[in-house]
Amino acid sequence: MPAMKSLKTIAAARRWRQGIDAKVVLVPTMGALHHGHEALIRHARKIVGPTGIVAVSVFVNPTQFGPKEDFSAYPRPLAKDLATCKRAGADAVFLPRVDDMYAADASVTVGESGLSTKLCGRSRPGHFGGVCTVVAKLFLAIQPTHAVFGEKDWQQLAIIRRMVRDLNFPIAIEPFATVRESDGLAASSRNAYLTPDERALAPSIHAAMENAAKLKSPQSIVKFCAVAISKIPGARIDYIEAVDASTLAPLSNRKTAGRLAVAVFLGKARLIDNIPLPRIP
Ligand code: PAJ
Repeated sequence: MPAMKSLKTIAAARRWRQGIDAKVVLVPTMGALHHGHEALIRHARKIVGPTGIVAVSVFVNPTQFGPKEDFSAYPRPLAKDLATCKRAGADAVFLPRVDDMYAADASVTVGESGLSTKLCGRSRPGHFGGVCTVVAKLFLAIQPTHAVFGEKDWQQLAIIRRMVRDLNFPIAIEPFATVRESDGLAASSRNAYLTPDERALAPSIHAAMENAAKLKSPQSIVKFCAVAISKIPGARIDYIEAVDASTLAPLSNRKTAGRLAVAVFLGKARLIDNIPLPRIP
């Protein structure tokens, strides 16, 4: 197997891409890769097969962090990330620098004005604009035929699908189910911010969601979930919502596929999670 290619600039990525005729699948990440990311990369290989090309981007995107968020503190364990990409079977890793991705006076961005106003968009203004802009730029640099996104970030997945539809990117968006720790906590780079005590409490969030989802009406699900999560010591609820799985509008009944989505602060960490609320025919 040829060595994994390290693409450090947009120009290098373009030159590399010109020589490829096969399917190319991109897994965009911000690094600090955990076993959830690794599963995405392995899934990417399944999508394009042994003759296809799997590319992973590792780029901590400044434009999706708010002024009070953790951009500088975000972990950047590059050597470990490269080893993970290699182990998971990536053919190429794209590692652009911030000044290559963004001109100092950059003034053109991609924005999404509907889905971005909901859920995380309310407490993270500008976040999804930053995500759309960087993902569009990654798509233009790598020109993948397919791209994999995790359901862990359900709203992000919905917004990327919308961007691809509305801007006619010729790219198939491939979702991948949330990868969890054995106790149910969704794998996340930000779990590293939890103290041991908080880490022990964190799985109660998912447990509360699963228990709530056994109820029928969206209203009772949200209420039950809020009561259970507010009993977790130190937990501060940002939102708990039952939404339509594609429009992210509040779910009023079970006639369409829904999602129970939560964001909860536990100490310094803001944890998000979501689970399906299947349609009840
Ligand atoms: P990041 O948080 O690094 O996540 C990269 C990809 O991994 C995303 O598609 C995310 O949904 C997925 N992922 C993370 N944890 C997961 C888990 N436990 N199970 C399944 N998938 C998981 O999301 C971003 O980076 C950025 O916003 C990005 C899209 C790269 C743009 O900067």
